[in-house]
Amino acid sequence: MYDFAFSTADKPALYRDLADALRALIADEPDPIANMANAAALIFDALPDLNWAGFYRNLGGTLVLGPFQGRPACIRIPFGRGVCGAAAATLQVQRVDDVDAFPGHIACDAASRSELVVPLVSKGVLIAVLDLDSPLPARFDAEDEVGCVALAQALTSRLAL
Ligand code: SME
Repeated sequence: MYDFAFSTADKPALYRDLADALRALIADEPDPIANMANAAALIFDALPDLNWAGFYRNLGGTLVLGPFQGRPACIRIPFGRGVCGAAAATLQVQRVDDVDAFPGHIACDAASRSELVVPLVSKGVLIAVLDLDSPLPARFDAEDEVGCVALAQALTSRLAL
């Protein structure tokens, strides 16, 4: 059983604890699906106000649904389409306060109001995107972005081809 204690002092402390927990979970496991599965579970369990947390993998230039927590989601997303597709096409983090105002947003779960998508890039190649959805508008701030980028970097080191 894995039972982690997370700081509630402030967001940077929470994300430092989360990154430590993630590194411990993935340290001895080379399988990328297992590591993405535990990362999704850890994030969904530890961060408040999420309705979806998980991964889309880059399989030959299309985003394909990977390990996640939340409701069943759309399976394939073309690069450039929606928030995940924008992150894949640009290799830039997408932090969206109001998904309804984002051109082409794909509503997998009608409850989603805001979204944070972080590309996982190794040697310039997109491996996957980490997608977090919240039922609250503007759920993700700059500290969430910094924290999730750090989580993505820790994970990418165990996913690289
Ligand atoms: N809303 C996303 C699609 C993925 S789901 O949120 C899980 C998007 O527009 O990329």
